[in-house]
Amino acid sequence: MKKLYYCSGMSDYKHFESKGIRTQSNNELHREHSTPIFMTSSFTFENAEQARAMFADEIDGSIYTRFTNPNNNEFIDKLCLLEETEAGIATASGMAAMFSSMAGLLKTGDHVLASRSVFGSTHQLFTQIFPKWGIGHTYVDIDKPETWARKINSNTKMIFVETPSNPGLDIIDLEWLGGFAAEHSLILNVDNCFATPFLQQPAKFGAHLVTHSATKFIDGQGRTVGGAILGSEELIKDIRFFTRHTGPSLSPFNGWILSKSLETLPVRMEKHCENALKIAEYLEGHEELVSVKYPFLPSHPQQQLAKKQMRYGGGLVTFVVSGGYQRAGRFLNNLKMLSHTANLGDTRTTVTHPSSTTHSKLTEEEQLRVGIDPGLVRISVGLENVNDILEDIVGALEASNEKKILN
Ligand SMILES: Cc1ncc(COP(=O)(O)O)c(C=O)c1O
Repeated sequence: MKKLYYCSGMSDYKHFESKGIRTQSNNELHREHSTPIFMTSSFTFENAEQARAMFADEIDGSIYTRFTNPNNNEFIDKLCLLEETEAGIATASGMAAMFSSMAGLLKTGDHVLASRSVFGSTHQLFTQIFPKWGIGHTYVDIDKPETWARKINSNTKMIFVETPSNPGLDIIDLEWLGGFAAEHSLILNVDNCFATPFLQQPAKFGAHLVTHSATKFIDGQGRTVGGAILGSEELIKDIRFFTRHTGPSLSPFNGWILSKSLETLPVRMEKHCENALKIAEYLEGHEELVSVKYPFLPSHPQQQLAKKQMRYGGGLVTFVVSGGYQRAGRFLNNLKMLSHTANLGDTRTTVTHPSSTTHSKLTEEEQLRVGIDPGLVRISVGLENVNDILEDIVGALEASNEKKILN
């Protein structure tokens, strides 16, 4: 059971929604109903003994916002309840979470077994940044788990995966993966950004660390960048040492936004998923598209697995336009309502062309290996009326058809 360090409320609410709403900072002074923003860099000590004891970790309490702040603590306490983990750390961005969750635990000579289907900046961590400190990796294919055991070395310490992956929407069996990590005594680190804890809780399947870009569905309104690392107290303790002394901390203002956002996560996710399924079903078989991918579509190669481990199919739909790279560009240029942006997980539907933007640092061959066709378009389905979203997509598909334009 998670110990609530800084929040009032009970840690044993039965239901997800109540945990996200009713877990709140202890605020006794003004009896405020909603948590205020604690924009302060430091906190005062009542006396010298209290200061000493706090620095010695003998008593809990906020000291300095680089590593303790009521807004960030509330955000993390809630997220721990939702992910069912013991402890956590709020970070300035999703990438700060990915980086710190590895840098805080790994040392020179260590090796990570990583799914090839990872976000572009995570790929840069593995290929450009960690090699500078002698931390190696081997990529494995998310759809060929039978090959993974052969890629484990004596110095392998961690497994890192995204499921569903960005932007391939590929899925790995978390139950199998939890068992595999335990069998080989490896730390399992799962980036749960696309699913959020409302759709899937990797720790229940044996993940030791759950990492998030809170920038996406957790904020859910495109306002801020943030991240989180969650896991057992034992692992988080070492990562906390790293973040406390290197400083990738979340601003209290952003912590306040993200904590408030968790109150509405379930209702938002239900609607994102409902709209996304409708859009995927409508577009499948459309004459201007080569393919459509969505975890809960029967045509998704892992639909059964997705249904086993996810509550709904998620807010992301991808499709490949016929006409490849150039056609994808024309499609984007013809959209009227949808936002052309690199972000996802917003109330507004956002559209991205991964090949030329988020995953452009991968070679063409690397892109194809993780399912990024030059004509692939990623739609993060928002909360607008689904008919308006579809009308814009279909209109831009029509308008970007070269043959129709020439006729
Ligand atoms: C799956 C995934 N992980 C991590 C990140 C990085 O998060 P941030 O942009 O908050 O640093 C992203 C960003 O798009 C992402 O999609």
